[in-house]
Amino acid sequence: MSNRFVIILAAGQGTRMKSKLYKVLHPVCGKAMVEHVVDEMLRIEPDRIYTVVGHGAVQVKERLDGKCEFVFQEEQLGTGHAVLQAKPHLGDKTGMTLVVCGDTPLLRAETVKALMDHHEESGAKATVLTAKLEDPKGYGRIVRNGEGMVEKIVEEKDATEEEKQIREISSGIFCFDNSLLFQALEKVTNDNAQREYYLPDVLSILRKEGHPVSAFLIGDPAEILGVNDRVALAEAQKIMRRRIHEKHMKNGVTIIDPENTYIDCDVEIGRDTVIYPGTVIRGKTKIGEDCEIGPNTEIVNCEVGDATVIKHSLVTDSQVGSSVQIGPFAHIRPETKVDDEVRIGNFVEVKKSFIGKHSKVSHLSYIGDAEVGKDVNIGCGTITVNYNGVKKFKTIIEDEAFIGCNSNLVAPVTIGKGAYVAAGSTITKDVPGNALAIARSRQENKENYVEKLKLKN
Ligand code: UD1
Ligand code: MG
Repeated sequence: MSNRFVIILAAGQGTRMKSKLYKVLHPVCGKAMVEHVVDEMLRIEPDRIYTVVGHGAVQVKERLDGKCEFVFQEEQLGTGHAVLQAKPHLGDKTGMTLVVCGDTPLLRAETVKALMDHHEESGAKATVLTAKLEDPKGYGRIVRNGEGMVEKIVEEKDATEEEKQIREISSGIFCFDNSLLFQALEKVTNDNAQREYYLPDVLSILRKEGHPVSAFLIGDPAEILGVNDRVALAEAQKIMRRRIHEKHMKNGVTIIDPENTYIDCDVEIGRDTVIYPGTVIRGKTKIGEDCEIGPNTEIVNCEVGDATVIKHSLVTDSQVGSSVQIGPFAHIRPETKVDDEVRIGNFVEVKKSFIGKHSKVSHLSYIGDAEVGKDVNIGCGTITVNYNGVKKFKTIIEDEAFIGCNSNLVAPVTIGKGAYVAAGSTITKDVPGNALAIARSRQENKENYVEKLKLKN
């Protein structure tokens, strides 16, 4: 096998996105568009991958760090000019060079492999991946001659009315003989509507020089969707989502309503877990087997064990054990670790805390900066008073402690093993193990108070 190189074009501003974020960094199901492209290209194991960066170079390089090499395009003078920037690295090499755009996040390695095979088998010096679209608007059109051979690619803005009727479009993805590519690029001019150096012009240049040029028609045109604006971005997300859902369903996950479920591309989910509608699972989340997630739940960057149920809740950057019940309407904030068999009920907020095995925080509580042991029962309305306006303090609740309803635990404070806190207490001092702490004013009943009141008036 000859040398194989990949050039990914990602230097454009992406004006049509109307965004502060550079186009290729817009995420599709949790991953930047250009990262989708690089990851797929890595799967074909080329000798080198060069990403052409320009607008947002620092951010794009940071995102792709370690996955590929970079070349810098100082001025964005067109796709042909962008590829030319790789000449110092590739100009003297022999082999095959694949050029892909950083704004085609749905492209799969399998398709690229098929394109490369076709290119090699046909003996062509340049092959373009094409698709037939119902609505070809915005794409370069494939102009074929009388014998059906590719003659040239004409951009929408340069096309005649007749050419605009052509439904076969260029995906912007090409396979080239490397040496001929760089030779031809030197001959590309910017004599066109956009005053840009077009990469597609390499095809007609090679054709005119008598080199064989070919086209490879893709089966599923959705794969080469070029994201130039937010409408296409939504379209790409929709297609990517369907792929992600199908992968999980084929792996044994039930998704009750795929149309109303949003799962990022790196999420892992175990078998027999059921995902209910309105669920959003983001980032590097890993969910075990036999769980029930949702409805209406968002989980971000979490690890969740097996047989856990999370309903109508938000859980972020936390670890949740097995056989845990969370919700409805719980909020688990970052750096929380919930051990196995814990129950966190409605309207409970937990932040940066550890909740030990088989403990319960069933209703209306705030647990922040706390370490809760196992078999602890935290009554309704318990608040860890963790903040004095300047600093955060820790609450420790040891195993088997029982916190009565509506208690304030003013941190730093420790509730000893097996201790009881009477309902309505405001605890400001440590409570020894097995003790009962009552910290509230004593109830006084004034006999016949109402009668006396009436007599007075
Ligand atoms: C391009 C193709 C068009 C094809 C379509 C497929 C050209 C002239 N047009 O059009 O034939 O149908 O893709 O999606 O090639 N870029 C640079 N430097 C530049 C210009 C662009 O790196 O100077 C990058 C962009 O960041 C982008 C890619 O090249 O990732 C394509 O550029 P874009 O402006 O999206 O071209 P399209 O109008 O979509
Ligand atoms: Mg584009």
